[in-house]
Amino acid sequence: MLTSFPDNFLWGGAIAANQCEGAYLEGGKGLSIQDIMPEGVVGSISDEPLDSNLKLVGIDFYHRYAEDIRLFAEMGFKTLRFSIAWSRIFPNGDESEPNEAGLEYYDRVIDECLSHGIEPLVTLSHYETPLHLARKYDGWRSRKMVGFFENYCRTVFERYKGKVRYWLTFNEINAIVHFPLMGGGILTPKEELSKQDIYQAAHHEFIASAKAVKLAHEIMPDARVGCMVLGVVNYPMTPAPDDMIASMERNSELMLFTDVQVRGKYPTYSKKLFRDLGVKIVMEDGDSELLENTVDFISFSYYMSKCTASDITRYEKGRGNLTSGVRNPYLPETEWGWQIDPQGLRYLCNYYYDRYQKPLFVVENGLGVVDVLVEENGTITVNDDYRIKYLNDHLIELGKAIEDGVEVLGYTSWGCIDLVSASTAELSKRYGFIYVDRNNDGTGTLERYKKKSFNWYKEVISTNGASL
Ligand code: BG6
Repeated sequence: MLTSFPDNFLWGGAIAANQCEGAYLEGGKGLSIQDIMPEGVVGSISDEPLDSNLKLVGIDFYHRYAEDIRLFAEMGFKTLRFSIAWSRIFPNGDESEPNEAGLEYYDRVIDECLSHGIEPLVTLSHYETPLHLARKYDGWRSRKMVGFFENYCRTVFERYKGKVRYWLTFNEINAIVHFPLMGGGILTPKEELSKQDIYQAAHHEFIASAKAVKLAHEIMPDARVGCMVLGVVNYPMTPAPDDMIASMERNSELMLFTDVQVRGKYPTYSKKLFRDLGVKIVMEDGDSELLENTVDFISFSYYMSKCTASDITRYEKGRGNLTSGVRNPYLPETEWGWQIDPQGLRYLCNYYYDRYQKPLFVVENGLGVVDVLVEENGTITVNDDYRIKYLNDHLIELGKAIEDGVEVLGYTSWGCIDLVSASTAELSKRYGFIYVDRNNDGTGTLERYKKKSFNWYKEVISTNGASL
């Protein structure tokens, strides 16, 4: 029996606007990059939104948010992580005045959460840059984005102060290196971008994130702002010193993104990293001081670990949501080839905490699976014991990390209600405790059904983890 979770531990779930809201043009919303990404990160983009793009309707959270939040409350959620779609607030992204209807929509979502005692945890930018900014400025390649983002942040901070205390700046900020369009709203194809282009764009996001932290603290003195990174820790494939060094270097590439936002400056190893990559970050006057506006906590997604070696061509490749790395022969994998490693979560928590001594927040973790609806005694459900096992195993390891001494603010499982996949834009890759009747071909009633894991998670929360 685990008793390590602190009394105020923030149990909950996580979703993102573009993957669940739908209503892609309602309430004055402008287009976002996701509206022209019908196939996720793996496929091509379209000129205009296509009906085949499941995100245009999503799971219709835009209209059904109250019903869904009630279900989250029934599970006992203490927090809900969701994103604000920037293009609902500033349809083009570069206007000076916000769209009131968009602000009112999030008033309603936030108030619904608060009415159930659910603390909102808001992501400001979750892979949904306004399309106009991508088309006109090539997204975060342009320094102008910093000002547009600042305007957006100021608007939502002023509007929701006193209601939203927890904020995240850029979802999986390190993803920009691998997926410049999704992570940075950059329309230029990746093959045409140099490392200089990409890391300079990342620098603009660092500056924007630091400005957001500064603004948040000024406008909302009790706010806590976190960075958000895709946490894929690297293990050396063998104990050969060359492999150990290779894994150290891969981990440095990952840690760069937290180092800048947590320590407030580029780490010393970045000199060599950038030299090897041919990168020279162009800094403006005042950038170094700005970066000193460091985050209050570190949040990350955790789905897998990966292996690396000095010569990766000798090994079978692994698959995953960021880079593939080398397949770990000791780990099972999901239907989508993501390797399952609950202990990696404990390891990563310790890794971050040893390095920074700042609180952590696990804001994404979960299992994407093809679920099958069944009818049992007149109730339609999914017997998702595999999901229960996955989450249970990860939470046990998180509990152990807390026993190790790591300070963890909370845990929000990804896709607490089924939604559209970010990487493949499918609906059949389901993560939820709640099944949504919508299929990859767009058919379905959009009805919601509680899966077996719904009651399992409810018990985990009500016992504060003791039932794990
Ligand atoms: C994270 C993203 O990378 O992984 C989410 O922040 C995403 O947006 C999640 O949905 C799971 O990935 P996928 O591709 O299975 O949806």
